[in-house]
Amino acid sequence: MDPLPIHTIICLVCWSFCLLPFYASSSSRLLPDKPLSAGSTITSDDGTFALGFFSPSSSSTKYYYVGIWYRNIPEDNVVWVANRAMPITDPSSATLAFTSGSNLALSDTSGQLLWTTNISAARNSSSEATGGEATLDNNGNFILRSSHGTILWQSFDYPTDTHLPGMNLRITHKMHALQQLISWRNPQDPSPGNFSYSADPDEFRQRITWNGSTPYRRSLVWNNNLVVGKYIESIKSTIYYTLQIIGDEVYASFGLPVPSVSVVLMKIDYLGKMKTQIWNSNSSKWTDLYSGPNQECNKFGYCGPFGYCDNTQPIVTCKCFDGFEPNNKQDWMARRFSQGCHRMEALRCGQGDGFLNMSTMKIPDQFLYVKNRSLDECIAECTSNCSCMAYAYSTMRTNAIDEDDTRCLLWIGDLIGTEKFIGQGENLYIRVNGPSDKNRKSNVLKITLPVVSSLLIIICVCLAWICSFGGKQRNKKIWKKLMSGTSSTSIELRDGNLKYPFINFQEIVLATNNFSNSNMLGHGGFGNVYKATLEDGTEFAVKRLSKGSGQGELEFRNEVILIAKLQHKNLVRLLGFCIHGDEKLLIYEYLPNKSLDAMLFDATRKSMLDWPIRFEITKGVARGLLYLHQDSRLKIIHRDLKASNILLDAEMSPKISDFGMARIFGSNQQQENTNRVVGTYGYMPPEYVLKGVFSVKSDVYSFGVLLLEIVSGSKISSVHLKADFPSIIAYAWSLWKDGNTKDFVDSSIVDSCSLNETIRCVHIGLLCVQGSPNARPLVSSIMSFLENGDISLPPPKEPVYFAEDNHGTDGAAENIVNSKNNMSITALKGR
Ligand SMILES: *[C@@H]1O[C@H](CO)[C@@H](O)[C@H](O)[C@H]1NC(C)=O
Ligand SMILES: *[C@@H]1O[C@H](CO)[C@@H](O)[C@H](O)[C@H]1NC(C)=O
Ligand SMILES: *[C@@H]1O[C@H](CO)[C@@H](O)[C@H](O)[C@H]1NC(C)=O
Ligand SMILES: *[C@@H]1O[C@H](CO)[C@@H](O)[C@H](O)[C@H]1NC(C)=O
Ligand SMILES: *[C@@H]1O[C@H](CO)[C@@H](O)[C@H](O)[C@H]1NC(C)=O
Ligand SMILES: *[C@@H]1O[C@H](CO)[C@@H](O)[C@H](O)[C@H]1NC(C)=O
Ligand SMILES: *[C@@H]1O[C@H](CO)[C@@H](O)[C@H](O)[C@H]1NC(C)=O
Ligand SMILES: *[C@@H]1O[C@H](CO)[C@@H](O)[C@H](O)[C@H]1NC(C)=O
Repeated sequence: MDPLPIHTIICLVCWSFCLLPFYASSSSRLLPDKPLSAGSTITSDDGTFALGFFSPSSSSTKYYYVGIWYRNIPEDNVVWVANRAMPITDPSSATLAFTSGSNLALSDTSGQLLWTTNISAARNSSSEATGGEATLDNNGNFILRSSHGTILWQSFDYPTDTHLPGMNLRITHKMHALQQLISWRNPQDPSPGNFSYSADPDEFRQRITWNGSTPYRRSLVWNNNLVVGKYIESIKSTIYYTLQIIGDEVYASFGLPVPSVSVVLMKIDYLGKMKTQIWNSNSSKWTDLYSGPNQECNKFGYCGPFGYCDNTQPIVTCKCFDGFEPNNKQDWMARRFSQGCHRMEALRCGQGDGFLNMSTMKIPDQFLYVKNRSLDECIAECTSNCSCMAYAYSTMRTNAIDEDDTRCLLWIGDLIGTEKFIGQGENLYIRVNGPSDKNRKSNVLKITLPVVSSLLIIICVCLAWICSFGGKQRNKKIWKKLMSGTSSTSIELRDGNLKYPFINFQEIVLATNNFSNSNMLGHGGFGNVYKATLEDGTEFAVKRLSKGSGQGELEFRNEVILIAKLQHKNLVRLLGFCIHGDEKLLIYEYLPNKSLDAMLFDATRKSMLDWPIRFEITKGVARGLLYLHQDSRLKIIHRDLKASNILLDAEMSPKISDFGMARIFGSNQQQENTNRVVGTYGYMPPEYVLKGVFSVKSDVYSFGVLLLEIVSGSKISSVHLKADFPSIIAYAWSLWKDGNTKDFVDSSIVDSCSLNETIRCVHIGLLCVQGSPNARPLVSSIMSFLENGDISLPPPKEPVYFAEDNHGTDGAAENIVNSKNNMSITALKGR
């Protein structure tokens, strides 16, 4: 991406035209009598941009191009290229010059035309032919003017892959051609690649990234604001994205209120990602403020018709709309979503048809825009036509287009390309069957009405009996939900397969002795756990979730029911749940032996855990984790795996608890005021602490820490090690490096252990806590490492250590704010 190095030019020039003096221009203008050749550049007045010859290639056979780049940015600095597809092979022979008309042309000495402005108007008058000039302005726009000062051509009208602030990208094509950004082929080749970015040819309200001629990603649909602002914390400024109507056409632009403060640009990269980038002069790097598609799920059509990509959950994945189910369940579970979903119950198209309200959505593609409709008219329009699957409505607040400030969108047919976000998007209303119109003819209705209503009363009584939720108001609310909600509610009640689908709150209060401290089994950031004993002697554990989990009841229930379906002998069984006011309780099986940490780190009790037991525990935890990561259909990342979350049953078999909490608390991730634990210091991998990035490899890191704890019998941040080492990871590494790993083994198991096995476990533990997630093994590999002692292990590198910091040892919460995802992670010390 560097401009042609001057010494190369000097050599080239000197070699071929030894006697010609080397001439370097630093003007901001190109004049008819001063052509531009390799080695000279045109510089904008303020020195930001340069235009000249450059080669993006680092290989020895170089191709050269004429382009515009940021002068003060060393990498990825090219913003415009003239001869994209017609490279110059010998830069000493090429010049950019005015032609006999007022056009600019790039040609080589053999006379081959490589690029031209090709403006026919410029050829018109001979008086203009003599006088023109081309200037590079401070926005990076190269402008060709006639001698009268009229703009004949400008590079901003012919963008390559970059949209700069100040540039208006034409996104309608009434009178003019549509403008688009076209990616480079690869970072060293500016010729047009497969990806482009432009408005939907039929609909300027949405922009599309194309892979060839197929949509690859869609933008959000322009809503009621023609100006959208996005505050960027790192520069304490707001980026504005604007639609403007100029003449007949609509143009898109963007920028900062004070353009000179920071360098920002939008660009489509060669892999098809549309990015908004900012130059960080501190680190000398481009930082992505936005980049999409971010995940598979964000690709257009990935979730198929009537599926949507849910970006609100920790694991971004496809879902069916409520009341829909996958067309092909096997594919869906194997994460092949493209076949989409269908209605569980066919549309009846009756009078009482309603709409399911989905908020913060990227509304689907292929909408029908109906002009000049009020909200009620828009709803009526959709209701009255049974092919209408959904609508979305908004009123334009600024600069109405076509003097119509309404925006009624209808969908006839499949809903495709839908996504759900946190805090952006709009309401989408999806047609659902009316609740009580099984019978279309009204006289039939009259006859069946009394029957139906008495049935309802019976159901009502039954429900009230099954689930007494406390106060009457609550009952009403739940009842309303059951009735108005989608059919999924009752279906889940039927095959939810929970032992205590709803359990009476009063019963729990009784069984836990009013949540007395003496019944408390443990506590953590998600809430306290109590032992409960029913009158008949049945024992179970109750997790009383911290208040303010904020999740709606329906989502909470759905998540709990999903998680309750996960069953594995190394996972604690979730038996049921209870909602009472803002109390949310989870009912678990009761395990008599408490948690691993209570035994492992207790001087007297640890002797009960000899090495064979510890090794079995290790393998059990790995099996449970493997199930969560790979085998369960939810693909759960635990995110808070630690000794206190491993419970032991009567046979000392381990059971992982607290899994799925990230899902249960999921939709509330963005709120800063919740007291969630999404990790415990020491167990959290560096990429999670620093960037908020988590993956299955984050759990592997935590597993590694756990493994080291099991072998050493010391806590990750054990006090007696602290003097010399920040954590047992550092301690383990130090011993490993010096070949003294046997000193790491807990003295209370030395007699019972196989030294090979323990050393192998330390080795595996060190592999798991490698700084780079890619260097850590998958749980499936760990499983085979543990079960087959013959498999040779790669040598570990020095891991990354995290010292527990000194603040918050009193249990105070500490916020790590990840501004990139707008997500705040509240980390609470384990204990
Ligand atoms: C110039 O434009 C004309 C008409 O728009 C086109 O036919 C011709 O191929 C163009 N020439 C070059 C060199 O691009
Ligand atoms: C160019 O010339 C044609 C005919 O000679 C004329 O119709 C047109 O307006 C001229 N364009 C400009 C930009 O002067
Ligand atoms: C562009 O797409 C074609 C197939 O349509 C493919 O063969 C080619 O490799 C792609 N090029 C790049 C740079 O991705
Ligand atoms: C783009 O489309 C081509 C086929 O036309 C496909 O091979 C390629 O994988 C697609 N690229 C991406 C990034 O999806
Ligand atoms: C660059 O560093 C300065 C001083 O350390 C700081 O004030 C500024 O916010 C940093 N800028 C960015 C973009 O990080
Ligand atoms: C749909 O839901 C959103 C968010 O919950 C709410 O603001 C909006 O008013 C709802 N629409 C209707 C028609 O109830
Ligand atoms: C919008 O519709 C109303 C009647 O519903 C009509 O009076 C008005 O002229 C229409 N406006 C436009 C701009 O079409
Ligand atoms: C429903 O809308 C579609 C698309 O506008 C139209 O083709 C169809 O005729 C309409 N059907 C009825 C019954 O109005």
